[in-house]
Amino acid sequence: MKKLIDKLYEQNTLSKDELCTLLDGLTERDDDYLFEKARSVSKRYFGNRIYVRGLIEFTNYCKNDCYYCGIRKSNKKAERYRLTKEEILSCCENGYSLGFRTFVLQGGEDPFFTDEKIIDLVSSIKKGYPDCAVTLSIGERSGEAYRKFREAGADRYLLRHETANPQHYGKIHPPELSLSNRIQCLERLKESGYQVGSGFMVGSPYQTTENLAEDLLFIRQFEPQMVGIGPFVPHHDTPFAGFPAGGLEKTLRLISILRLMLPSALIPATTALGTIHPEGREKGILAGANVVMPNLSPVGVRKKYELYDNKICTGEEAAECRFCLQNRMRKIGYEIVVDRGDYRPPK
Ligand code: 5AD
Ligand code: FES
Repeated sequence: MKKLIDKLYEQNTLSKDELCTLLDGLTERDDDYLFEKARSVSKRYFGNRIYVRGLIEFTNYCKNDCYYCGIRKSNKKAERYRLTKEEILSCCENGYSLGFRTFVLQGGEDPFFTDEKIIDLVSSIKKGYPDCAVTLSIGERSGEAYRKFREAGADRYLLRHETANPQHYGKIHPPELSLSNRIQCLERLKESGYQVGSGFMVGSPYQTTENLAEDLLFIRQFEPQMVGIGPFVPHHDTPFAGFPAGGLEKTLRLISILRLMLPSALIPATTALGTIHPEGREKGILAGANVVMPNLSPVGVRKKYELYDNKICTGEEAAECRFCLQNRMRKIGYEIVVDRGDYRPPK
């Protein structure tokens, strides 16, 4: 496998067959080599600097019914909440004083938050914190909406493609959702001038090695500025409750492969990765990730934004995540920085 890893390192890509061979053939002995290579690429671009994003989970209402997700509309047991504008701005105030210079507004696809309401939120945050970046993560909207959010000051947009294979997409989503629409949204976001993030779950139900290779090749050709991946983690009140969680090693290998494919991309060590292993996020950084996203949501709602079981960071103290991650990063030789952490194209 060393030869394939070297080839990926040198050429930033592999064929679909080669990617399948790599994904199926990697063993623990290759991991050190792969992780080390990916880490050296991250070091070259970012040194030991880790970017932070303050995650504000502002609504768990959702009109969609994705089979994997705990806040799907059919989950009548989910306790729904929406933050007010004042609550959201107070998360930002708190976040700013903790050194965050990027705020991520993430929510279900909640029609209550009309385009106008989102525009108002974005412009208010940008007005109050002009040196901060605003990232939206609110799903599929019209091209016009994306343009207006951008004009209001939104800098980045996260919209995972979830899986690049249309048949697989159909197995994990209800029929009213389609991969083609998802990709059209991603194209529109890019055209509107956002730094765009895509990504997928590792080990989602019915996912094959070939599907993962397709995800990698999709990302390689779409070239998002950000790539978020994490293991699938079952949620007890969804149709996928009985499926096993995605693997730690596999997720780490994919982070490394993504780092070698897109050397200067912003790649988070995700909360889901931290959920399946107590040092998952540290391992993610050591496999080539360079971003962490501590929870900035009010403590009272954190448990309710339950996309999957046993989600971490639902603890009592609001500022806890920031310091927790600072300590965790320091222990492995990295430092969280006070910086917007914008994408910079490769030199
Ligand atoms: N396990 C892991 N990740 C999940 N997501 C949603 N549900 C789950 C789950 N059960 C991810 C999706 C979505 C992101 C916000 O969270 O990839 O895009
Ligand atoms: Fe949230 Fe450690 S990062 S509790």
